[in-house]
Amino acid sequence: MKVCHAPETVAVLEIAKPAVEFKGVRKVFQSRSGPLEVLRDFSLVVAEGEFLAVVGPSGSGKSTVLNLLAGLDMPDEGHIACNGAPVDGVNTEIGYLTQHDSLLPWRTVEENVAVPLEIRGVAVSERRDRVHAMIASVGLKGFERHHPRQLSGGMRKRAMLARTLIYNPSTILMDEPFGPLDAQLKLVLQAELMRLWSESRKTVVFVTHDIVEAITLADRVVVLSPRPSRVKLGERIAIGRPRSVHDVRFAPAFEDHYRRLWGAIETDIGRQPHDQQ
Ligand SMILES: Nc1ncnc2c1ncn2[C@@H]1O[C@H](COP(=O)(O)OP(=O)(O)O)[C@@H](O)[C@H]1O
Ligand SMILES: [Mg+2]
Repeated sequence: MKVCHAPETVAVLEIAKPAVEFKGVRKVFQSRSGPLEVLRDFSLVVAEGEFLAVVGPSGSGKSTVLNLLAGLDMPDEGHIACNGAPVDGVNTEIGYLTQHDSLLPWRTVEENVAVPLEIRGVAVSERRDRVHAMIASVGLKGFERHHPRQLSGGMRKRAMLARTLIYNPSTILMDEPFGPLDAQLKLVLQAELMRLWSESRKTVVFVTHDIVEAITLADRVVVLSPRPSRVKLGERIAIGRPRSVHDVRFAPAFEDHYRRLWGAIETDIGRQPHDQQ
């Protein structure tokens, strides 16, 4: 028997649950030269399980958006929610890989990766197993007892990624994680991130200044305008998965995506008000 759905029922079923919502958000910092309005009427919805990339001029507020979602900072106006609940303090549902190297230098890799489990009071025996499995899955097996200073830049990123994923957060925030790495290493880590993400399909908000990286990884790319910033363009990436980080640029849709995204960014280069930090 053929089941007929009313069109509106089908439409409702197709809308994925929002994992992240920004509605009419305004954020103003007090800088030495006066108030600095970074976000104005900023709205953005990220669906559960979506991989969203955020690009935009330097100083446009990309890190601010992540900090607000992490609950490390509060908006001056508007509403932010994560998995349906308002963010009104430190958001424990997220894993945050910040822009800066945040490994504790006096701790080994396994001791660093274990930090989020220690904070959550996970028993020592369970902790050890989970830490070792996670270290292996980011390709750091054999380096458990090394200190951060004994690792290359890429290995430190892997350790930070392991620490971000270890407690199984529902939403992962990544702030230019592969920015300072060389091109080859970047591709390797992108491929590993794709593999890890495809196994878990977490919601990801990934900030990058690299348009090719954004198209390679994301389901959707949003471009921020200069300050006071809002979402200027949203581009859904029409390239199937699984994707190869090497072949993505040869996909038929790649060129159009690149042109549109670059077009949106190019017009703003040099228009960003001077950084006042
Ligand atoms: N805590 C703060 N106090 C004052 N100004 C800040 C603070 N955090 C960020 N800013 C300023 O806000 C603007 C946006 O910063 P940020 O979100 O880091 O931009 P992006 O990540 O897009 O480069 C910048 O001009 C920055 O100097
Ligand atoms: Mg930033």
